[in-house]
Amino acid sequence: MVFKKTDVCELFGIEYPIVQAPMGPFITTKLCAAVSNAGGLGIISHTGTFLYLKERDPDFYKQVHDFAPKLVESTLAMEEDMGVNTLEELRKVSKLTDKPFGVNVRVAREQPDAPYLIDAIIEEREKDPKLTENLKVVVTSAGSPNLYTQRLKDAGLIVVHVVPSVYHAQKSEKAGVDAVVASGHEAGGHVAWDPVHTSVLTPAVRKIVKVPVLSAGGWCDGKGLVAALALGAGAIYMGTRFIATKESDFAPGYKEAVLGGTERDTIVTAGTFGPIRVLKNKYAATLQELLDSVTGSFQGKFENPKIEDAKTNISWADSYKRGKTENAPVLTGEVQGLIDNLPTVKELIDGIMKEAEEIITKKLPSFIA
Ligand SMILES: Cc1cc2nc3c(=O)[nH]c(=O)nc-3n(C[C@H](O)[C@H](O)[C@H](O)COP(=O)(O)O)c2cc1C
Repeated sequence: MVFKKTDVCELFGIEYPIVQAPMGPFITTKLCAAVSNAGGLGIISHTGTFLYLKERDPDFYKQVHDFAPKLVESTLAMEEDMGVNTLEELRKVSKLTDKPFGVNVRVAREQPDAPYLIDAIIEEREKDPKLTENLKVVVTSAGSPNLYTQRLKDAGLIVVHVVPSVYHAQKSEKAGVDAVVASGHEAGGHVAWDPVHTSVLTPAVRKIVKVPVLSAGGWCDGKGLVAALALGAGAIYMGTRFIATKESDFAPGYKEAVLGGTERDTIVTAGTFGPIRVLKNKYAATLQELLDSVTGSFQGKFENPKIEDAKTNISWADSYKRGKTENAPVLTGEVQGLIDNLPTVKELIDGIMKEAEEIITKKLPSFIA
Protein backbone atom coordinates (compact mmCIF):
# COMPACT_ATOMS: atom_id res chain seq x y z
CA MET A 1 0.00 0.00 0.00
CA VAL A 2 1.47 3.36 -1.07
CA PHE A 3 -0.73 5.43 1.17
CA LYS A 4 0.68 7.33 4.09
CA LYS A 5 -1.80 8.46 6.70
CA THR A 6 -3.38 11.78 5.82
CA ASP A 7 -3.92 14.61 8.32
CA VAL A 8 -7.52 13.40 8.77
CA CYS A 9 -6.34 9.81 9.46
CA GLU A 10 -3.89 11.14 12.07
CA LEU A 11 -6.54 13.34 13.67
CA PHE A 12 -9.09 10.53 14.06
CA GLY A 13 -6.59 7.69 14.58
CA ILE A 14 -7.92 5.70 11.58
CA GLU A 15 -6.20 3.70 8.86
CA TYR A 16 -7.89 4.92 5.67
CA PRO A 17 -9.05 8.42 4.60
CA ILE A 18 -12.68 7.32 4.26
CA VAL A 19 -15.45 8.59 6.52
CA GLN A 20 -19.07 7.43 6.54
CA ALA A 21 -21.28 10.50 6.61
CA PRO A 22 -24.16 10.59 9.11
CA MET A 23 -27.61 10.09 7.58
CA GLY A 24 -30.24 11.15 10.07
CA PRO A 25 -33.06 10.86 10.75
CA PHE A 26 -32.20 7.34 9.67
CA ILE A 27 -30.26 4.95 11.89
CA THR A 28 -26.72 4.05 10.81
CA THR A 29 -25.61 1.86 13.72
CA LYS A 30 -24.51 -1.33 11.95
CA LEU A 31 -23.06 0.72 9.12
CA CYS A 32 -21.05 2.89 11.52
CA ALA A 33 -19.52 -0.12 13.27
CA ALA A 34 -18.74 -1.83 9.95
CA VAL A 35 -16.96 1.26 8.58
CA SER A 36 -14.87 1.73 11.72
CA ASN A 37 -14.02 -1.99 11.77
CA ALA A 38 -12.90 -1.75 8.11
CA GLY A 39 -10.41 1.05 8.90
CA GLY A 40 -12.49 4.16 8.12
CA LEU A 41 -14.46 6.32 10.52
CA GLY A 42 -18.11 5.44 11.08
CA ILE A 43 -20.54 8.07 12.31
CA ILE A 44 -23.78 7.52 14.20
CA SER A 45 -26.62 9.64 12.83
CA HIS A 46 -28.63 12.20 14.75
CA THR A 47 -31.91 10.32 14.70
CA GLY A 48 -34.14 12.31 17.03
CA THR A 49 -35.54 15.82 16.97
CA PHE A 50 -37.87 16.10 19.94
CA LEU A 51 -36.98 12.94 21.86
CA TYR A 52 -34.34 14.40 24.18
CA LEU A 53 -36.14 17.70 24.49
CA LYS A 54 -39.28 15.95 25.74
CA GLU A 55 -37.27 13.83 28.15
CA ARG A 56 -34.97 16.51 29.55
CA ASP A 57 -37.01 19.72 29.45
CA PRO A 58 -40.77 19.00 29.44
CA ASP A 59 -41.68 22.69 29.92
CA PHE A 60 -39.74 23.80 26.87
CA TYR A 61 -41.08 20.80 24.95
CA LYS A 62 -44.61 22.00 25.70
CA GLN A 63 -43.77 25.47 24.39
CA VAL A 64 -42.35 24.02 21.16
CA HIS A 65 -45.34 21.68 20.83
CA ASP A 66 -47.82 24.54 21.30
CA PHE A 67 -45.99 26.52 18.61
CA ALA A 68 -45.97 23.74 15.96
CA PRO A 69 -48.12 20.80 17.17
CA LYS A 70 -48.44 19.07 13.80
CA LEU A 71 -44.72 19.09 13.07
CA VAL A 72 -43.79 17.96 16.59
CA GLU A 73 -46.36 15.14 16.67
CA SER A 74 -45.59 13.82 13.19
CA THR A 75 -41.85 13.88 13.92
CA LEU A 76 -42.24 12.09 17.25
CA ALA A 77 -44.47 9.48 15.60
CA MET A 78 -41.76 8.90 13.00
CA GLU A 79 -39.11 8.61 15.72
CA GLU A 80 -41.22 6.03 17.51
CA ASP A 81 -41.92 4.12 14.29
CA MET A 82 -38.22 3.92 13.47
CA GLY A 83 -37.24 3.12 17.06
CA VAL A 84 -34.68 5.91 17.23
CA ASN A 85 -32.57 6.63 20.29
CA THR A 86 -29.15 8.12 19.61
CA LEU A 87 -27.76 7.19 23.05
CA GLU A 88 -28.83 3.58 22.58
CA GLU A 89 -27.03 3.62 19.21
CA LEU A 90 -23.83 4.81 20.96
CA ARG A 91 -24.01 1.84 23.33
CA LYS A 92 -24.66 -0.59 20.45
CA VAL A 93 -21.77 0.67 18.31
CA SER A 94 -19.45 0.58 21.32
CA LYS A 95 -20.20 -3.14 21.63
CA LEU A 96 -19.66 -3.77 17.90
CA THR A 97 -16.24 -2.11 17.46
CA ASP A 98 -13.01 -1.37 19.31
CA LYS A 99 -12.08 1.31 16.77
CA PRO A 100 -12.74 5.08 16.82
CA PHE A 101 -16.15 6.34 15.72
CA GLY A 102 -18.19 9.54 15.79
CA VAL A 103 -21.69 10.93 16.22
CA ASN A 104 -23.54 13.73 14.45
CA VAL A 105 -25.60 16.47 16.05
CA ARG A 106 -27.55 18.78 13.73
CA VAL A 107 -27.36 22.15 15.44
CA ALA A 108 -29.90 24.07 13.36
CA ARG A 109 -32.26 26.46 15.12
CA GLU A 110 -35.08 24.10 14.14
CA GLN A 111 -33.38 21.29 16.09
CA PRO A 112 -34.49 22.05 19.66
CA ASP A 113 -33.07 18.82 21.10
CA ALA A 114 -29.46 19.66 20.07
CA PRO A 115 -28.20 21.12 23.39
CA TYR A 116 -29.89 18.33 25.37
CA LEU A 117 -28.50 15.64 23.09
CA ILE A 118 -25.00 17.11 23.37
CA ASP A 119 -25.18 17.04 27.17
CA ALA A 120 -26.54 13.48 27.06
CA ILE A 121 -23.74 12.31 24.72
CA ILE A 122 -21.06 13.82 26.97
CA GLU A 123 -22.62 12.22 30.09
CA GLU A 124 -22.99 8.84 28.40
CA ARG A 125 -19.39 8.93 27.17
CA GLU A 126 -18.02 9.83 30.59
CA LYS A 127 -19.90 6.96 32.22
CA ASP A 128 -18.32 4.26 30.08
CA PRO A 129 -14.50 3.92 29.71
CA LYS A 130 -14.85 2.16 26.33
CA LEU A 131 -17.01 4.98 24.99
CA THR A 132 -14.55 7.53 26.39
CA GLU A 133 -11.81 5.77 24.43
CA ASN A 134 -13.59 5.18 21.12
CA LEU A 135 -16.27 7.85 20.72
CA LYS A 136 -13.75 10.39 19.52
CA VAL A 137 -15.55 12.69 17.12
CA VAL A 138 -18.67 14.85 17.09
CA VAL A 139 -19.74 16.19 13.71
CA THR A 140 -21.93 19.27 14.06
CA SER A 141 -23.96 20.37 11.06
CA ALA A 142 -26.76 22.55 9.69
CA GLY A 143 -26.17 25.41 12.13
CA SER A 144 -23.56 27.66 13.69
CA PRO A 145 -20.17 26.27 14.82
CA ASN A 146 -20.17 28.90 17.59
CA LEU A 147 -22.88 27.15 19.58
CA TYR A 148 -21.28 23.98 20.96
CA THR A 149 -17.67 23.66 19.75
CA GLN A 150 -16.06 24.77 23.02
CA ARG A 151 -18.39 22.66 25.17
CA LEU A 152 -17.53 19.55 23.13
CA LYS A 153 -13.80 20.28 23.08
CA ASP A 154 -13.77 20.85 26.84
CA ALA A 155 -15.26 17.37 27.15
CA GLY A 156 -12.28 15.96 25.20
CA LEU A 157 -14.02 15.41 21.86
CA ILE A 158 -12.70 16.17 18.37
CA VAL A 159 -15.12 18.60 16.73
CA VAL A 160 -15.78 18.64 12.99
CA HIS A 161 -18.23 21.10 11.44
CA VAL A 162 -19.95 20.70 8.04
CA VAL A 163 -19.67 23.79 5.81
CA PRO A 164 -21.18 24.73 2.44
CA SER A 165 -18.94 27.77 1.80
CA VAL A 166 -15.58 29.39 2.42
CA TYR A 167 -17.30 31.90 4.72
CA HIS A 168 -18.62 29.11 6.97
CA ALA A 169 -15.25 27.32 6.90
CA GLN A 170 -13.52 30.44 8.22
CA LYS A 171 -16.20 30.92 10.85
CA SER A 172 -15.77 27.28 11.95
CA GLU A 173 -12.00 27.59 12.22
CA LYS A 174 -12.42 30.73 14.29
CA ALA A 175 -14.83 28.85 16.57
CA GLY A 176 -12.02 26.34 17.22
CA VAL A 177 -13.13 23.24 15.29
CA ASP A 178 -10.52 20.54 14.62
CA ALA A 179 -11.57 19.94 10.99
CA VAL A 180 -14.24 20.94 8.49
CA VAL A 181 -16.30 18.97 5.98
CA ALA A 182 -16.62 20.89 2.70
CA SER A 183 -20.05 19.74 1.55
CA GLY A 184 -20.83 20.24 -2.14
CA HIS A 185 -24.23 20.64 -3.75
CA GLU A 186 -24.33 17.21 -5.40
CA ALA A 187 -24.55 15.60 -1.93
CA GLY A 188 -27.55 13.59 -0.77
CA GLY A 189 -29.72 14.98 2.00
CA HIS A 190 -29.39 18.47 3.40
CA VAL A 191 -27.70 20.90 0.99
CA ALA A 192 -27.12 24.64 1.16
CA TRP A 193 -29.23 27.33 -0.52
CA ASP A 194 -26.34 28.31 -2.81
CA PRO A 195 -25.44 25.52 -5.22
CA VAL A 196 -21.64 25.40 -4.89
CA HIS A 197 -20.29 22.06 -6.02
CA THR A 198 -17.61 19.83 -4.52
CA SER A 199 -14.93 20.42 -7.17
CA VAL A 200 -14.96 24.16 -6.44
CA LEU A 201 -15.77 24.10 -2.74
CA THR A 202 -13.08 21.62 -1.63
CA PRO A 203 -10.01 23.52 -2.97
CA ALA A 204 -11.56 26.87 -2.00
CA VAL A 205 -11.97 25.71 1.60
CA ARG A 206 -8.52 24.05 1.58
CA LYS A 207 -6.97 27.34 0.51
CA ILE A 208 -8.55 29.35 3.30
CA VAL A 209 -8.30 27.21 6.49
CA LYS A 210 -5.37 25.53 8.24
CA VAL A 211 -7.36 22.68 9.84
CA PRO A 212 -7.82 19.37 7.97
CA VAL A 213 -10.56 19.32 5.30
CA LEU A 214 -12.88 16.40 4.48
CA SER A 215 -14.62 16.51 1.12
CA ALA A 216 -18.31 15.55 0.78
CA GLY A 217 -20.71 15.26 -2.12
CA GLY A 218 -20.39 12.91 -5.06
CA TRP A 219 -17.64 10.52 -3.97
CA CYS A 220 -17.99 6.74 -4.29
CA ASP A 221 -14.75 5.14 -5.51
CA GLY A 222 -10.96 5.24 -5.83
CA LYS A 223 -11.10 7.81 -8.64
CA GLY A 224 -13.01 10.09 -6.30
CA LEU A 225 -10.55 9.55 -3.47
CA VAL A 226 -7.59 10.49 -5.70
CA ALA A 227 -9.48 13.55 -6.98
CA ALA A 228 -10.42 14.67 -3.46
CA LEU A 229 -6.82 14.29 -2.26
CA ALA A 230 -5.66 16.30 -5.30
CA LEU A 231 -8.18 19.01 -4.43
CA GLY A 232 -6.64 19.28 -0.97
CA ALA A 233 -8.87 17.08 1.17
CA GLY A 234 -7.50 14.65 3.75
CA ALA A 235 -10.47 12.26 3.42
CA ILE A 236 -13.66 11.57 1.52
CA TYR A 237 -16.93 11.77 3.47
CA MET A 238 -19.57 9.57 1.80
CA GLY A 239 -23.26 9.07 2.50
CA THR A 240 -25.08 7.77 -0.59
CA ARG A 241 -22.38 5.20 -1.47
CA PHE A 242 -22.58 3.66 2.00
CA ILE A 243 -26.39 3.26 1.81
CA ALA A 244 -25.87 0.60 -0.86
CA THR A 245 -23.74 -1.77 1.21
CA LYS A 246 -24.66 -5.09 2.77
CA GLU A 247 -24.35 -3.87 6.37
CA SER A 248 -26.19 -0.57 5.93
CA ASP A 249 -29.28 -0.33 8.15
CA PHE A 250 -31.54 0.92 5.31
CA ALA A 251 -34.36 -1.35 4.02
CA PRO A 252 -33.55 -3.38 0.87
CA GLY A 253 -36.09 -1.26 -1.07
CA TYR A 254 -34.20 1.95 -0.19
CA LYS A 255 -30.91 0.38 -1.33
CA GLU A 256 -32.58 -0.72 -4.60
CA ALA A 257 -33.85 2.81 -5.19
CA VAL A 258 -30.28 4.15 -4.86
CA LEU A 259 -28.93 1.41 -7.14
CA GLY A 260 -31.65 2.05 -9.73
CA GLY A 261 -31.35 5.86 -9.87
CA THR A 262 -29.32 7.73 -12.46
CA GLU A 263 -27.36 10.93 -11.80
CA ARG A 264 -30.39 12.91 -13.08
CA ASP A 265 -32.95 11.25 -10.85
CA THR A 266 -32.53 13.51 -7.82
CA ILE A 267 -34.01 16.89 -7.06
CA VAL A 268 -33.46 19.55 -4.40
CA THR A 269 -36.75 20.18 -2.63
CA ALA A 270 -38.18 21.32 0.72
CA GLY A 271 -36.76 19.57 3.79
CA THR A 272 -37.79 19.94 7.42
CA PHE A 273 -35.49 22.93 7.51
CA GLY A 274 -33.93 24.17 4.28
CA PRO A 275 -33.46 22.28 1.04
CA ILE A 276 -32.71 18.56 0.78
CA ARG A 277 -31.64 16.43 -2.18
CA VAL A 278 -34.00 13.49 -2.66
CA LEU A 279 -34.92 10.90 -5.27
CA LYS A 280 -37.38 12.12 -7.91
CA ASN A 281 -40.52 10.21 -6.96
CA LYS A 282 -44.21 10.92 -6.30
CA TYR A 283 -43.43 12.56 -2.96
CA ALA A 284 -40.87 14.93 -4.51
CA ALA A 285 -43.16 15.68 -7.48
CA THR A 286 -46.07 16.60 -5.17
CA LEU A 287 -43.87 18.89 -3.13
CA GLN A 288 -42.45 20.49 -6.26
CA GLU A 289 -45.93 21.12 -7.64
CA LEU A 290 -46.86 22.83 -4.40
CA LEU A 291 -43.65 24.86 -4.37
CA ASP A 292 -44.42 26.00 -7.93
CA SER A 293 -48.02 26.86 -7.07
CA VAL A 294 -47.42 29.09 -4.05
CA THR A 295 -45.99 32.57 -4.30
CA GLY A 296 -43.20 34.03 -2.22
CA SER A 297 -39.45 33.92 -2.00
CA PHE A 298 -37.66 30.58 -2.27
CA GLN A 299 -37.18 30.44 1.49
CA GLY A 300 -40.69 31.82 2.20
CA LYS A 301 -42.25 29.06 0.10
CA PHE A 302 -40.61 26.46 2.32
CA GLU A 303 -42.45 27.93 5.30
CA ASN A 304 -45.88 27.93 3.59
CA PRO A 305 -48.57 25.96 5.54
CA LYS A 306 -49.51 23.85 2.49
CA ILE A 307 -45.87 22.81 2.09
CA GLU A 308 -45.70 22.15 5.84
CA ASP A 309 -48.73 19.84 5.48
CA ALA A 310 -47.22 17.93 2.56
CA LYS A 311 -44.01 17.44 4.55
CA THR A 312 -45.75 16.20 7.69
CA ASN A 313 -48.42 13.98 6.08
CA ILE A 314 -45.90 11.34 5.07
CA SER A 315 -43.77 8.82 6.94
CA TRP A 316 -40.00 8.84 6.70
CA ALA A 317 -40.04 5.34 8.16
CA ASP A 318 -41.84 4.12 5.01
CA SER A 319 -38.72 4.45 2.87
CA TYR A 320 -36.09 3.71 5.50
CA LYS A 321 -37.74 0.89 7.39
CA ARG A 322 -40.27 -0.61 4.98
CA GLY A 323 -38.52 0.12 1.68
CA LYS A 324 -41.62 1.85 0.27
CA THR A 325 -39.83 4.45 -1.78
CA GLU A 326 -42.55 5.71 -4.14
CA ASN A 327 -44.29 8.27 -1.94
CA ALA A 328 -41.83 9.04 0.86
CA PRO A 329 -38.60 11.06 1.14
CA VAL A 330 -35.65 9.08 -0.21
CA LEU A 331 -32.58 11.16 0.56
CA THR A 332 -29.87 10.33 -1.97
CA GLY A 333 -27.12 12.11 -3.90
CA GLU A 334 -26.33 12.55 -7.59
CA VAL A 335 -23.56 9.97 -7.16
CA GLN A 336 -26.23 7.25 -7.13
CA GLY A 337 -25.77 7.29 -10.91
CA LEU A 338 -22.31 5.74 -10.41
CA ILE A 339 -23.36 3.07 -7.93
CA ASP A 340 -24.26 -0.34 -9.34
CA ASN A 341 -23.29 -2.94 -6.73
CA LEU A 342 -24.01 -3.92 -3.15
CA PRO A 343 -20.66 -4.80 -1.57
CA THR A 344 -19.83 -5.37 2.07
CA VAL A 345 -18.35 -2.29 3.72
CA LYS A 346 -14.92 -3.96 3.85
CA GLU A 347 -15.06 -4.88 0.14
CA LEU A 348 -16.02 -1.29 -0.65
CA ILE A 349 -13.28 0.34 1.44
CA ASP A 350 -10.57 -2.11 0.33
CA GLY A 351 -11.70 -1.64 -3.30
CA ILE A 352 -11.52 2.16 -3.05
CA MET A 353 -8.02 2.03 -1.56
CA LYS A 354 -6.83 -0.47 -4.21
CA GLU A 355 -8.26 1.55 -7.09
CA ALA A 356 -6.77 4.79 -5.72
CA GLU A 357 -3.37 3.14 -5.33
CA GLU A 358 -3.43 1.85 -8.92
CA ILE A 359 -4.35 5.28 -10.25
CA ILE A 360 -1.56 6.98 -8.29
CA THR A 361 1.15 4.42 -9.00
CA LYS A 362 0.29 3.36 -12.58
CA LYS A 363 -2.17 5.62 -14.38
CA LEU A 364 -1.06 9.08 -13.30
CA PRO A 365 2.71 8.49 -13.82
CA SER A 366 1.88 7.48 -17.43
CA PHE A 367 0.83 11.09 -18.11
CA ILE A 368 4.33 12.36 -17.34
CA ALA A 369 6.72 12.45 -20.33
C1 LIG B 1 -30.05 9.62 3.60
C2 LIG B 1 -29.23 10.82 3.98
C3 LIG B 1 -29.48 11.46 5.19
C4 LIG B 1 -28.66 12.53 5.61
N1 LIG B 1 -28.85 13.11 6.84
C5 LIG B 1 -27.92 13.97 7.34
C6 LIG B 1 -27.95 14.40 8.71
O1 LIG B 1 -28.81 14.02 9.50
N2 LIG B 1 -26.98 15.26 9.13
C7 LIG B 1 -26.01 15.71 8.30
O2 LIG B 1 -25.14 16.48 8.73
N3 LIG B 1 -25.97 15.34 6.99
C8 LIG B 1 -26.86 14.45 6.52
N4 LIG B 1 -26.77 14.01 5.22
C9 LIG B 1 -25.64 14.45 4.40
C10 LIG B 1 -24.44 13.48 4.57
O3 LIG B 1 -23.97 13.54 5.89
C11 LIG B 1 -23.30 13.80 3.57
O4 LIG B 1 -22.90 15.12 3.69
C12 LIG B 1 -23.68 13.49 2.13
O5 LIG B 1 -24.34 12.24 2.06
C13 LIG B 1 -22.44 13.46 1.26
O6 LIG B 1 -22.77 13.37 -0.10
P1 LIG B 1 -22.99 11.98 -0.90
O7 LIG B 1 -24.36 11.54 -0.51
O8 LIG B 1 -22.86 12.36 -2.31
O9 LIG B 1 -21.94 11.02 -0.43
C14 LIG B 1 -27.60 12.97 4.76
C15 LIG B 1 -27.41 12.35 3.53
C16 LIG B 1 -28.19 11.28 3.14
C17 LIG B 1 -27.91 10.60 1.82
